[in-house]
Amino acid sequence: MNYKELIKMINHERMPKHIAIIMDGNGRWADEHNTKRVIGHKEGAKTVRRIVETAVEAGLKYLTIYAFSTENWQRSKQEVNYLLKLIMDSLVKEIDDLITNNVNIRFIGSKKELEKSYNKKVLNTCKTSWNNDGLHLNVAMNYGGRRELIDAFKLMSDDIISGKIEAERIDDEMVSNYLYTAYIPDPDLIIRTSGEKRLSNFLVWQSVYSEFWFTKTLWPDFSREEFIQSILDFQNRKRRYGTR
Ligand code: FPP
Repeated sequence: MNYKELIKMINHERMPKHIAIIMDGNGRWADEHNTKRVIGHKEGAKTVRRIVETAVEAGLKYLTIYAFSTENWQRSKQEVNYLLKLIMDSLVKEIDDLITNNVNIRFIGSKKELEKSYNKKVLNTCKTSWNNDGLHLNVAMNYGGRRELIDAFKLMSDDIISGKIEAERIDDEMVSNYLYTAYIPDPDLIIRTSGEKRLSNFLVWQSVYSEFWFTKTLWPDFSREEFIQSILDFQNRKRRYGTR
């Protein structure tokens, strides 16, 4: 079945509100094709476009993609520079199309270490998209779940010291609102490609009740059909939130 037929099978009452994706396997894809790792990333960027388009067509509200983690700095300088440039260049290329399609784009992650890598046009154009109410696309850049929690603890400590909040009043909702993902609902479904079954420091606080969907497919080969299949599979699951 092609993805258009699969989209028709979606039950919109049980649509996941937020899907988050760990895009893994670009390097292995490159190995399998006897080419350089950076070519794997380039192919991976094409998959991002395909999946964002499909998410819009399927009527998804929130999509978060793990583009660059706080651990990715440990890769070779050449690969890091290539990845950062590829992510920005892809956004420069796509941003007008995204805006026309009512997509609301945000970066989540630590701004530290990245000042120079952010493209000013992209940052400014993203701001103009914040009134859009179609797909909310969150690009996780220099993102680490533990770094996010540490940053939140620091902000909360400052606010306790200045008397803005009381320590006794801290609850789930308050912590959530100090995260990079403040006001973004927790992910209902987390997809990871390439056969690895780990969270790898992604959305550590937000994933406590997420459903997981793993596939052996390497990210550059991840298809529109498989993406919709993950949604259909999610719709058959019973979520218990620890109550039963
Ligand atoms: C994992 O593959 C992938 C990444 C670390 C980067 C993901 C980035 C892209 C897909 C580039 C485009 C992004 C945007 C937002 C346009 P890996 O290198 O860890 O693969 P391996 O585990 O097989 O070595």
